[in-house]
Amino acid sequence: MYDFANRTILVTGASGGIGGAVVRMLVKSGAEVLASGASPEKLTPIVTETGARPLPFDLTSESAVRDALGDIPVWGVVNCAGFGGEIASPADTDIAVFDQAIAVNTRGALLVTKYASRNMIAAGKGGAIVNVSSQAALVGLAGHISYAASKAGLDSITRVSALELGPHGIRVNSVNPTVVMTPMSAFYWGREEIQKPFLDQMPLGRYATEEEIAAPIVFLLSDGAAMISGVCLPIDGGYTSR
Ligand SMILES: NC(=O)c1ccc[n+]([C@@H]2O[C@H](COP(=O)([O-])OP(=O)(O)OC[C@H]3O[C@@H](n4cnc5c(N)ncnc54)[C@H](OP(=O)(O)O)[C@@H]3O)[C@@H](O)[C@H]2O)c1
Repeated sequence: MYDFANRTILVTGASGGIGGAVVRMLVKSGAEVLASGASPEKLTPIVTETGARPLPFDLTSESAVRDALGDIPVWGVVNCAGFGGEIASPADTDIAVFDQAIAVNTRGALLVTKYASRNMIAAGKGGAIVNVSSQAALVGLAGHISYAASKAGLDSITRVSALELGPHGIRVNSVNPTVVMTPMSAFYWGREEIQKPFLDQMPLGRYATEEEIAAPIVFLLSDGAAMISGVCLPIDGGYTSR
């Protein structure tokens, strides 16, 4: 459907559920995909399946991000790595979880943006960045204090990056998905007493699939979205329209 021929796209969180679906769609659309995750071993299945190139690094380390990106002429980035943290109230939160959520979801995405955008600017071919945020950044979700704050920070990174990188022909957008049943979410959102009242509030009344999140991400990377930058796009079955 899309043509990403001659475009190198870095996908962080490629060993995860949503990231893996993005890698599959991008490879099918002709992109050269760099599949990133913290653990080289966990990347093996998606790399073997798709032929994507593995690029493991810990995105909480600035030197690791800088060394991994080197002078690779990436055209696009999907910041999909994430840390779900805990379910806790403001009164009970473990502040170490907050620090880790910020380190991965916010600071990590900024570090990747920092070194990737330098290379994108140097290549002079424009490009696109999609940050995988969450509906938790758009509305208050009980129990999600640290995660929500980290993703709201990511949405601010999207807006400011869109302003600063736009003159280089680089578009930057967020997607804000609802729940997908990956290991990150199943322990909480899989519980009947949590799932039912949540889905009762959602016009489409069901959780999303990994592919339903990957498809809008790939669209935002594509030339079909050539005039879209700085948006935070809910993929939430209408949940945040209330
Ligand atoms: N699942 C949902 O319901 C949902 C809803 C809304 C938004 N999101 C967001 O969507 C994105 C993907 O979610 P998912 O459910 O597919 O996640 P997942 O299956 O839990 O995968 C998480 C990915 O992040 C990587 N990662 C974590 N810490 C890292 C670090 N320090 N350095 C490098 N990579 C690191 C993991 O690598 P390793 O495997 O090597 O640790 C893995 O590839 C996340 O940003 C998440 O916040 C998810």
